Amino acid sequence: MRVIVCLDYNEMSMVGARFVSSQLTLKPDSVLGLATGLTPVGMYNILSDMNKKGEIDFSKVKSFNLDEYYKIAPDNEQSYHYFMEKNLFSKVNIKRENTHILDGLSENPEEECERFDKLIQEKGGIDLQILGIGRNGHIGFNEPDKELYSNTHLTPLTQSTIEANSVFFESEDEMPKSALTMGMSSILKSKRIIIMANGESKKDAVARLLSGKISTDLPASLLNIHPDVILICDKAAYSSVNNK
Ligand code: PGA
Repeated sequence: MRVIVCLDYNEMSMVGARFVSSQLTLKPDSVLGLATGLTPVGMYNILSDMNKKGEIDFSKVKSFNLDEYYKIAPDNEQSYHYFMEKNLFSKVNIKRENTHILDGLSENPEEECERFDKLIQEKGGIDLQILGIGRNGHIGFNEPDKELYSNTHLTPLTQSTIEANSVFFESEDEMPKSALTMGMSSILKSKRIIIMANGESKKDAVARLLSGKISTDLPASLLNIHPDVILICDKAAYSSVNNK
C-alpha cells in the first residue's frame, strides 16, 4: 500500500481529485467506484469545479456506489442516492443512466445484490474505487466480524457505525440498522483503490491498517493484499502510526 500523508483535509481532497482526474484522462470511459460519508465531499466539490471549468469530463464515466441503507427511499435526504445526487451527480456531466446505486427499497435484497455484482462485471469491472474508512475499520458496510462476505450482500450495522452515522438522522430510531453493501471481493476486484482518511477519529483505524497485520476485525486491512492501493490521509489520521 502506498501512503500519501497530507497536511489537512483540503490537501487530501485535492490529492484524491488528482487521482480521479488522471484516471479519466487516461480512460475517459472509466468505471468509478464511489463512496459516501463526510470524507469524499471535499474531493467531490473539487471534481465538480474541475468539471465546470472543462478540465475533467464525466460524460462517458460509469459509476457504482459502495452501499446504501436498507430500507430507505431514494428521495430520503439521508439515503446515499440523495447524497450522490447532491454532492456530485447534479454538479457534473455524468449521465444518470450510467450511475448505479443499490436499491435500498428492494423487496428481494439477495437478487438485488447479485444483479449489482453482475452488472459491475458486465461493465468491465471497477477501474478506480474510492473508499473511506470507518472508525471501526469498516469499508463500505463490511463491519468487523469473525467472517466477512465476499459478494455484495445485506448486512446488519454494528453499534459503532449506528452511533457514528445516527448524527445525520433526527434520532437513532430513524436510522436504518441494516444496509446493502459491496462485499470484500467485490471491492478487491477493483483495478486500483484509493482509501481516504482524515481527522483524529480515524487515527486508530489507520494505525491498525498500516500495522502489517491482516484481520477480519479490521476489514480495511484486507486491502493490504491488493497490488494497487493508495492511502491518502491527513496528519491527524496518521498521528498514531508507529514508524512516522
Ligand atoms: P465518514 O465515513 O467519511 O463519514 O467518516 C467513512 C466510513 O464510515 O466509511
